[in-house]
Amino acid sequence: MAKKILLDCDPGLDDALALLLAHGDPDIELVGVTTVGGNVGLQRTTSNALALREYLHFESVPIAAGAGEPLVGDTREAAHVHGESGLGNAHLPEPTLPLDGRHAVDFIIDSLRASPGAIHLVATGPLTNIALALRQEPAIARLAASFTIMGGSFTRGNATPAAEFNIYADPEAASVVFAADWEVVMVGLDLTLQARATGPVVQRLATLGVLANELILPLATYWVDANDKNWDGQAVHDVCAVAHVARPDLFASRPARVEVEKRGALTSGMTVVDFDSAYPNASVPVALDVAGFWAYVEHVYGLVAAHHA
Ligand code: BDR
Ligand code: CA
Repeated sequence: MAKKILLDCDPGLDDALALLLAHGDPDIELVGVTTVGGNVGLQRTTSNALALREYLHFESVPIAAGAGEPLVGDTREAAHVHGESGLGNAHLPEPTLPLDGRHAVDFIIDSLRASPGAIHLVATGPLTNIALALRQEPAIARLAASFTIMGGSFTRGNATPAAEFNIYADPEAASVVFAADWEVVMVGLDLTLQARATGPVVQRLATLGVLANELILPLATYWVDANDKNWDGQAVHDVCAVAHVARPDLFASRPARVEVEKRGALTSGMTVVDFDSAYPNASVPVALDVAGFWAYVEHVYGLVAAHHA
């Protein structure tokens, strides 16, 4: 039976590629999408999700908008990475279909209550919606089949030397999420930087016709770091979180206790990962079968491309 996924996201180049995977994999049933402010503002992440739904034709999947600001402090965006629109060089038609009437937080709670133990919750943006949902209904931690984030790291950050963007953007929310009564699958930077759209990957993706030209390549090759001598292709961070639900066999993981630094002047948003703790609250993928990952992703994208005029 297909695995049900509810994706909370901030599209975002790699969020859009993650949505494409969740939509295209026949072994995944995408049951809902919720949006959060992150890479760009909430209005844009939401209109990007709506535009992707119509472009990819998953019109029956509800989309609900959520929080536009972190629980505490100033909004931090990443338009310098994802482009002003959030979707890099992809230009999709304006969406016409409406949002679900509910706030994302209510949508998440309602969905998990309606299908206890059946929905895999995946978060690929700042964790504001998830923290608000946990505060409103702590029982969701036991109702989700699993909970996977793209966020954090156990070595270095990317938003700052210490902090990965999704955690940095709302450290208080991340702290609530790691303290909840579930195991967090923390697909962090150390893992996702292994999943790069290198030259050979891009060449293979380029064979996928209209879908490649209009969507995949404009997303996966937008960010070129001319200053990084070791640059080896854009990492598709968020795709790894969805892939982990569908294909956990592609990942090697270790249990860990993860706590979030909320106040450090230099370390706010850092995930402090203790692999030796006797009280783990997380599972942290540390190694990726890179060839297997791309074979899987390219196969699914190929399925979508075959039906995309
Ligand atoms: C994460 O931050 C965002 O910019 C990406 O979409 C991804 O979720 C990587 O640090
Ligand atoms: Ca994201």
